[in-house]
Amino acid sequence: MKKILVATVKPFAPAAVDNIKEIVDKAGYEFILLEKYSDQSELINAVKDVDAMIIRSDKATKEVIEAAKNLKVIVRAGAGYDNIDLEAATENGVVAMNTPGQNSNAVAELALGMMVYLARNGYNGKPGVELKGKTLGIHAYGNVGKNVARIAKGFGMKVFAFDPFVSKETIEKDGVTAVDTVEELYSTCNYISLHIPANDKTKKSINFELLSKMPKDAVLVNTARKEVIDEEGLIKIFTEKPGFKYIADIAPDCKEEIAEKFEGRYFFTPKKMGAQTAEANINAGAAAANQIINYFEKGDTKFQVNK
Ligand code: 3PG
Repeated sequence: MKKILVATVKPFAPAAVDNIKEIVDKAGYEFILLEKYSDQSELINAVKDVDAMIIRSDKATKEVIEAAKNLKVIVRAGAGYDNIDLEAATENGVVAMNTPGQNSNAVAELALGMMVYLARNGYNGKPGVELKGKTLGIHAYGNVGKNVARIAKGFGMKVFAFDPFVSKETIEKDGVTAVDTVEELYSTCNYISLHIPANDKTKKSINFELLSKMPKDAVLVNTARKEVIDEEGLIKIFTEKPGFKYIADIAPDCKEEIAEKFEGRYFFTPKKMGAQTAEANINAGAAAANQIINYFEKGDTKFQVNK
């Protein structure tokens, strides 16, 4: 009987776990659960004889992959797969997949939620500002970016996007203005919402030069990854542009310096929680389980990311 491990430091909602178990049981496989583990050694131990695993932001390092002698497929229940050592997966004949789109509405709702929170000064009773009529630039128009655009239009924002991998027609049919360069996006918009993946090209790419193009009361919204920000540049822009604000789903490494020097100009979630809704967990978890079963039963590699 094939063994499918669900390994999540940050657990799925209980309903999502029940749902995954039901899918796995129905397919006649064994379901194993490792939640809230506190040390990577627990993960290494748990993967030893599993055939497949479902993870979230959990670190599927070379060590983990090499310890999993029977592992054939690993699914990141979510979008970003920067937590999987893809090279190690390929070298060990392991198919790595993600579940694109399954948690994107949850992340988009958090992006707009944080924008409202900041616009209303953390609900402290003092007069704030409105989102209506403001410009929003979506940096990368994938599943999350598209959902951010849909919700932002409901707020009456003017929405722009830049994505070199998505055609202008695709962007514009959503009523979003596609711009030709990243610089144009940053110089046009009051708010920038980041939806780029973290990879060798994008890490530290949101730097001082780019941020300095933004208008004086600019807000940077990051529900992507902290690694895409050049933190030296971030501190510099905070210092040089007194109107600049930064809100992020997971604090930067320099959070203490920001908290000390730039009060009222930031908000950071205590834990990455963009995808932390029951709906997103149920969708992504079920997709991950079904993708594993379809891989074993039919050889389906549709969502493979280490081709
Ligand atoms: C993703 O890449 O899908 C999101 O960042 C969510 O990550 P999480 O499953 O670890 O919350």
